[in-house]
Amino acid sequence: MSNSGKPVRIAPSLLSANFARLADEVAMCEAGGADWLHIDVMDGCFVPNLTFGAKVIETVRKLTKLPLDVHLMVVEPEKYFDDFVKAGANTLTIHVEAAPHLHRQLSRIRELGCAAGVALNPATPVESIAEVIPDLDLLLIMTVNPGFGGQAFIPQSVAKVARARALLDAARSGAALEVDGGIARSTIASVRAAGADTFVAGNAVFSAKDPKAEIAALRATGAQRA
Ligand code: DX5
Ligand code: ZN
Repeated sequence: MSNSGKPVRIAPSLLSANFARLADEVAMCEAGGADWLHIDVMDGCFVPNLTFGAKVIETVRKLTKLPLDVHLMVVEPEKYFDDFVKAGANTLTIHVEAAPHLHRQLSRIRELGCAAGVALNPATPVESIAEVIPDLDLLLIMTVNPGFGGQAFIPQSVAKVARARALLDAARSGAALEVDGGIARSTIASVRAAGADTFVAGNAVFSAKDPKAEIAALRATGAQRA
């Protein structure tokens, strides 16, 4: 199976950070070599949890130059595109299950000068994005059901990532292939071997004794040949 030879990209999820010390947590990720910061926006409607919006994105933007990878777990995501781009998002990823006009919504994200991503819940087949591959800068395969950090990785995700890799390769797409949920030293090599190149990690990084070392360990484990 191919991973397209792309380097491993680690994106710590701020959902698991200590928000009383947000500036320190962001600085720690940067010093630890994180490639992107993943920001989970939840609306209590698409997913059963509430998190944050433009204000937090703007705050994090001022703390770092790292790309901000914003994952919208919300209904009617287009309502937030302008504000989130203004706040400093580099990628906006919307859920196919919440985006009936995917082509229009992805085009709008790119029009705003932002990279456009689509996320798929565990039960949603990869073929659901087949018609919009040219419009994608990122495909996010959820490896847990979205809503909470610290959940267990769903093992069937490995085969799904391989199907996503094949679909992107067949279309000669350069889109990033990201996985999110339950990514840890014990799971990263399997999804890397299946072709993922971008790895979100919340609990694994922020609950580690040494989060900086954990970012490095994830990268090294992901880079090993499975
Ligand atoms: C879950 C979020 C994830 C979450 C991952 O709905 O999309 O980004 O922060 O957390 P871990 O890595 O702890 O599973
Ligand atoms: Zn996420």
